[in-house]
Amino acid sequence: MKVNVAGINFNEVQTEVLIVGTFKHPENTQGWSDFVSFYGSSLEKWLKAGDVSTDHKKLTKLPTLQEGKLQRIFFVGLGDRKTLDQDELRDIFGTVGKELVSSKTSSVSIWLDSFINEDIEIEDVAYLSAEGIGMGLYKVPNYKTSSNEVETYLDNVDLLTNSDEQEILAYFEVGQVYAEAVNEARTLVNMPSNVLTATKMAEYAKELAETYDFEYEELGKAEMEELGMGAILAVNQGSTEEPRLMVIKYRANEEWTDVVGLVGKGITYDTGGYSIKPKDGLVGMKGDMGGAAAVLGAMRIIGETRPNKNVIAVIASTDNMISGNAFKPDDVITSLSGKTIEILNTDAEGRLVLADSVTYAKQQGANYIVDVATLTGGVIIALGKDKTGALTNDETFFETFLEATVETGEFVWRLPLTESDKKRIRKSDVADLNNSPGRDGHMIFGGGFVGEFVENTPWIHLDIAGTSDASAAHDLGPKGGTGAMVRSLATLVERMSLENPEE
Ligand code: BES
Ligand code: MN
Ligand code: ZN
Repeated sequence: MKVNVAGINFNEVQTEVLIVGTFKHPENTQGWSDFVSFYGSSLEKWLKAGDVSTDHKKLTKLPTLQEGKLQRIFFVGLGDRKTLDQDELRDIFGTVGKELVSSKTSSVSIWLDSFINEDIEIEDVAYLSAEGIGMGLYKVPNYKTSSNEVETYLDNVDLLTNSDEQEILAYFEVGQVYAEAVNEARTLVNMPSNVLTATKMAEYAKELAETYDFEYEELGKAEMEELGMGAILAVNQGSTEEPRLMVIKYRANEEWTDVVGLVGKGITYDTGGYSIKPKDGLVGMKGDMGGAAAVLGAMRIIGETRPNKNVIAVIASTDNMISGNAFKPDDVITSLSGKTIEILNTDAEGRLVLADSVTYAKQQGANYIVDVATLTGGVIIALGKDKTGALTNDETFFETFLEATVETGEFVWRLPLTESDKKRIRKSDVADLNNSPGRDGHMIFGGGFVGEFVENTPWIHLDIAGTSDASAAHDLGPKGGTGAMVRSLATLVERMSLENPEE
């Protein structure tokens, strides 16, 4: 996509569509009278009559009467100038992106300054327009024989502003990077498990590592057996597909210290194993690798923006299947950490693969750990499908993360993890831990189980079972994979890199 910065001269717009932010009282927007004299004074009447709406999120598409390339104006209702915030503006640009797809627009001008208010500066508009429109443009790849190509139309964007060209372009490009990473993660989540096997995911991870000059290591079944990764191996036991552990290292500094670990659950399909899911519970379980997708998406952003912080990504991938070899309830397994686990429920498999992944991340030098996983249906019961559930053992670390999520607009809510919860995770007659203490508050048990392997390392657990895929289209994209936490993880790393600017 070609992106240019052009001055604000409406007579010289060279694209099919012009996007105009329209607050209530648009006459207070700088340059509005120039726009009215360009477009025609009828606009004022139409605004008064409500034919061009200034209501929040209302989009009015009108043709232009002048000769030239420009064919249509999208008036984007922004509502009250005083109350519009950045999250709302991102969402609004998301809806603009969707409209650009459905109208098959190939070139667009965005009058950046028309979106400014007291809280939103021109750089924010550049960033949010790229991110919002980029996410809004996303289409789910399909396998229909009639249209097996994802069409992309938009290939030219002109940013209309008199602000510094280089700076505006830089902000816009970062927004594009964020959107593209989210969209990549969405596609991974949307891929069926017969296509996205653990081996395929590892190929993807390896390619990503090569693109961004990351160090890459991959463990297969034999290596896992040698190291004693009994937890991942147990989950993989019933499968004909090989498991994979993907390890990506981004070295920002020569010294491998102060390392952030991003750990993702990459279950390509979760049947539940012998604790099998009911048939309705199976549909959608191709998305049980949303945590892995989030980590891979974040690594893509990190590869582009190259923050000053060492990062290790660890992703364990396998499907959870049934066969004569599959693991069973009552089995006792030994994890990489040496801790033994009594299996009470083979459907509580995510915490098992995360246990070995977290241990491996620690062995490889992670000083902070964030694990991301579609871990429990419990988080959906507790928080709904639009909030990510969190646990932590470190207030300061979590505070930094919350600041990142405020920036990205991804809603995260923390649940408690108490000593009595931990007691129940450690309750077993035959092993150190059990993998399923009960259904009451089970989001806490899922994450808390992972915490047993993290021990004292500052840690945040993110349960994205609800947020990783959307059951209906939303402002920032279609039904299906959302790319939840891609942007927040990357922003966390970015923020942590700024905390230690001297390093
Ligand atoms: N992958 C599921 C969690 C899930 C549920 C993700 C719904 C997305 C939508 C996970 O492995 C699982 O099966 N969890 C069990 C835990 C239980 C066995 C303690 C659950 O949520 O029922
Ligand atoms: Mn499961
Ligand atoms: Zn699962």
